[in-house]
Amino acid sequence: MSVDLDQAAIDLLKRNDRGGYTVPTARLYPYQWNWDSAFCALGFASFDRNRAWQELETLFEGQWDDGMLPHIIFRRDDPDYFPGPTVWQTGTTPPTSGHSQPPVLASIVKRLLDSQESNDEEQRGHTLFPKILAWHRWYHHARDPHNLGLVATMHPWETGRDNSPEWDAAMANIDVADLGDYQRRDLAHSTQDERPRSYDYDRYLTIVKFGRECGWDSNEIAARGPLWVADPGINMILLRADRDLLMLAKQFNETTAASEIETWITNSEAGIDRLWNQQVGGFCALDLRTDKHADGLSNASMLAFYAGAGTSQQQQRMNTELRRISDSVRYLMPSWPATHTAFEARRYWRGPIWAMMNFMLAQGLQESGDTELSQRLRKDTCTLIQQSGFHEYYCPLTGDGCGGDDFSWTAAIWLAWASPAQQHST
Ligand code: GLC
Repeated sequence: MSVDLDQAAIDLLKRNDRGGYTVPTARLYPYQWNWDSAFCALGFASFDRNRAWQELETLFEGQWDDGMLPHIIFRRDDPDYFPGPTVWQTGTTPPTSGHSQPPVLASIVKRLLDSQESNDEEQRGHTLFPKILAWHRWYHHARDPHNLGLVATMHPWETGRDNSPEWDAAMANIDVADLGDYQRRDLAHSTQDERPRSYDYDRYLTIVKFGRECGWDSNEIAARGPLWVADPGINMILLRADRDLLMLAKQFNETTAASEIETWITNSEAGIDRLWNQQVGGFCALDLRTDKHADGLSNASMLAFYAGAGTSQQQQRMNTELRRISDSVRYLMPSWPATHTAFEARRYWRGPIWAMMNFMLAQGLQESGDTELSQRLRKDTCTLIQQSGFHEYYCPLTGDGCGGDDFSWTAAIWLAWASPAQQHST
């Protein structure tokens, strides 16, 4: 069974390959996405090392002069996708979206180099190093202009977790009166009750309109953007990625870069504490305009283990909450607790399970010493894929595959981690 699935995953990645970059899935997402590509590289690495590096190299073709690595590169016009390059109007070549996505890439490069098969890989990693460094620098400055040690996000799409309940309160404050008409395309490719609502889309596009009108000026975005929230996902992933980048800096003898990265790490370790919400027992999204925390623990909150963030007391409390969350679902890890009123088992980031989140969560739990939960995450991910195929996400109550099918990063996570063939590694 799993041998067939290994081959099916390889075939899927090849099918979604558009020549040096991979689309997340053929019709719903027909361009190159930032963190999708990073995870795809891990999948390619299991059967074609050259192709794995190429995925990361093509992604950097979209990097902006200020270091920002956009969340989408629009390589060819596809009228089937909305909002495309004419809506973003970033004026860049190649055309891209106007904001970033969670910075998992340094950690992926570190992982590739840890298992490198030739010296050429070391060289390719070193060539990417200054570009990744510039991207992290952009995060620490443009998204943290007051040096809080906490980066903010301007758009739910930047967090990669579009309609998580974590942004509900901040989104409710956005005035959409001036938006005008638009036509969604995503609903033609996926079931309506598994996608974000029109209410959310109105706000997504209002933020894009703001970005477009200010020429994607990061100072303007930080000062007056409709949304300015510190996301535990981006902050935990960035902290982990900075730690991995520091190890790469040492490996490459990049001493000046190493001290710069050390400063970021020290700042973030302190700053992240502002996300702690004692009431719910974990790190939660914080609206930096209103200073209010979200009131629930998402799967991204639990990336604290992956980041090595929090005191031992905080980690113990999170572990208790994590076990409580686990008891209320059949499969781990729901993107939102099933006991919370905003939970929706099949609606995107409001409940469903995502394979690449499980991969990072399991790694963090393993490193924090909770082998039992870490293994459960891996076993559940394996079972979900065996039962339902390579879906975009899965229902935590029934295990049904939801959203798009033939999904690249799910296949990649299978090849790199969830397949029984991989289960001897970490
Ligand atoms: C959705 C997801 C995001 C992902 C993109 C492409 O927007 O929320 O995380 O990168 O689809 O798969």
